[in-house]
Amino acid sequence: MNLLFVASECAPFVKTGGLADVIGAVPKSLAATGVHVRVLIPAYPALADLAAAGKVTMSFDDLFGGPARIIAVQAEGLDMLLLDAPHLYDRAGNIYLGPDGKDWHDNDLRFAALSFAAAQIGLNGLGDWMPGVINAHDWQAGLVPAYLRQDGRPAPPVVMTIHNIAFQGVFDAKRLSPLRLNSELFTTDGIEYFGKISFLKAGLALSQKITTVSPSYAAELLTPDFGMGLDGLLRERQMDLHGILNGIDLDVWDPETDASLIATYSATKLAGKAKNRAELEARFGLTKSDGPLFCVVSRLTSQKGLDMLLDCLADLVAQGGRLALLGTGDPQLERAFVDASNRYRGSVGTIIGYDETLSHLIQAGSDAILIPSRFEPCGLTQLYGLRYGTLPVVARTGGLADTVIDANDAALLADCATGIQFAPINSIMFGHAISRTCVLFAKPKIWTAMMRRAMRHPVGWDLSAATYLDVYKSAQAR
Ligand code: ADP
Ligand code: GLC
Repeated sequence: MNLLFVASECAPFVKTGGLADVIGAVPKSLAATGVHVRVLIPAYPALADLAAAGKVTMSFDDLFGGPARIIAVQAEGLDMLLLDAPHLYDRAGNIYLGPDGKDWHDNDLRFAALSFAAAQIGLNGLGDWMPGVINAHDWQAGLVPAYLRQDGRPAPPVVMTIHNIAFQGVFDAKRLSPLRLNSELFTTDGIEYFGKISFLKAGLALSQKITTVSPSYAAELLTPDFGMGLDGLLRERQMDLHGILNGIDLDVWDPETDASLIATYSATKLAGKAKNRAELEARFGLTKSDGPLFCVVSRLTSQKGLDMLLDCLADLVAQGGRLALLGTGDPQLERAFVDASNRYRGSVGTIIGYDETLSHLIQAGSDAILIPSRFEPCGLTQLYGLRYGTLPVVARTGGLADTVIDANDAALLADCATGIQFAPINSIMFGHAISRTCVLFAKPKIWTAMMRRAMRHPVGWDLSAATYLDVYKSAQAR
């Protein structure tokens, strides 16, 4: 089967979050099931060299305001299609935000162009390569089925994947014509959303199948609290909605071979972990202690619940815990964690920034990773934590609930615990979870057994890749 992935980011080329990791990893696992995936993403400046090495496979005289080309190139084990449209993507800085920190003023055109180009590949193929299914990821690819629908020619089915329903791509109805959308699609069962255009709703309403990135999030999305205005539509389409758990790239995230570490280690030879911890202490200005070294690697946004960590910091430090935090985002949260590292000098270290290499070292050198998300479609950092023997302390929601086995008495007796979960999601219960972690950490036999178990927990893509294949096949059967 040939498959076209359409997304706004893909690791290792361009990444702002977990979406990129997933787009960069799934194609490799699907290849093992006989699926040939090509990944269409915009040719941002970071991809200029790659684009220069590729081959032009499709051209547009005018793609929403300027000429554009689709360039095919193979790199990092991936078959990439780069949408080269300088008027839309050739800009320094963040791929979504301008220098003022606000969305680029023409994000509707930028990502409509991506969807439009994908639809042209679906309708016309690329040479003799024709996708059997198009998998559109998040709102940036949401208009793919809209452009296919209004074209009217036979087209491959679309599977729409929700990585995070909080981002919906909602724009003024006046943009219909610049976005080259037919007004016939502007209905409540089409792309209209409370009088505006919603890219994600278009994808959910007009695709053949819908997936999201964990079974628990799939269920949560049916409720008003989590569905964020799209729960009604998702309830109607329940039979077509599948929650398929994310995995991780086991080659990129492997403590036995990871080149970003000071020392490699494994479930049977854990000694190397201490060397990474020492390096982390030096990098974050932390002094020695008998308590656990907690870490955070995260976007700093309200989704991630890290304001609750601020409430818990005094107790965390009082119990001998330490914290190494790497993150960027909300300036208020950034400031608060920098302040905290001054207040608790030696116990709390903050690095504001985005640093892929450091994120690996943090996973390797810490004892536990804190993820108190208010909602979490899947979450990848708890999976990296499991693989690196850094036990996840997580809110019981979405993919966090599906991947971490709480160290309650039953799980400890049954030898199956891999981390700590808490619910309801508030500062009190999070603080309690941190205390439970400190207590467990003080029992080295139990802690080490949990580490080893966590490191052996399957977190790869094999199972989920097979489930995706089933969904693609059922989309084709429509
Ligand atoms: P989300 O996609 O909602 O941000 P995920 O847990 O799915 O959450 O994925 C986040 C990804 O981004 C992980 O690969 C994580 O390591 C990475 N990441 C987040 N913040 C940073 C940072 N400041 N520096 C380096 N990597 C980061
Ligand atoms: C989104 C979600 C995150 C998920 C990632 C990859 O960014 O917030 O939970 O892991 O997509 O699917």
